[in-house]
Amino acid sequence: MSTPHLRLEPVTAANFDAVHAVSVRPDQQHLVSPVVKSLAEAYVHPTMAWPRAIVAGEEVVGFVMAFLDHHWNDDPADVRSGLWRLNIDAAHQGKGYGTFAVEAVCAELHRRGTPRAYVTWHTGPRTPEPFYTALGFARTGELSGDEPVGVRELAAPAEAPA
Ligand SMILES: CC(C)(COP(=O)(O)OP(=O)(O)OC[C@H]1O[C@@H](n2cnc3c(N)ncnc32)[C@H](O)[C@@H]1OP(=O)(O)O)[C@@H](O)C(=O)NCCC(=O)NCCS
Repeated sequence: MSTPHLRLEPVTAANFDAVHAVSVRPDQQHLVSPVVKSLAEAYVHPTMAWPRAIVAGEEVVGFVMAFLDHHWNDDPADVRSGLWRLNIDAAHQGKGYGTFAVEAVCAELHRRGTPRAYVTWHTGPRTPEPFYTALGFARTGELSGDEPVGVRELAAPAEAPA
């Protein structure tokens, strides 16, 4: 079976119902806000939020939202970007879609000139910490609320061969 074409797409009237239907497993719901809350936050933070549908072939399989140029702890000198939300639908976990979404967001941030990507995660049962660690995120030692903060350096693209 060929791998379906994976991409991030803006959330629009055309895919809203499918994006809204994205739901993690019942035992994961403490780990991430429901998509509808993220979309509401995107509405009230239009310059900071970068919400996208994760699409495989013709199917919406997840939702990811980056945050752009956020003044960390209201510090004007500490401007950060990263992953705000990531929800892979229960029926589509374990197929590499979460990895794809993280890499696609990191590529987008890198394209925008961002040197590093941040994320926070719940600890405790079913924490996604090993998922993020495997993707190159490491704890900074900070907490955001009660969640550890992780960071990944965004490498410069490899030089094209001469
Ligand atoms: C965490 C999540 C985004 C991972 O998405 P996914 O599409 O299932 O992940 P992938 O298929 O890309 O998995 C990549 C690897 O991470 C591993 N992995 C995924 N979730 C993991 C978890 N919670 N703990 C440990 N390993 C995990 C997979 O087993 C896989 O390992 P492999 O490469 O050795 O096979 C998804 O499970 C999810 O939506 N969880 C609930 C919400 C959540 O925690 N979101 C993150 C909020 S910060």
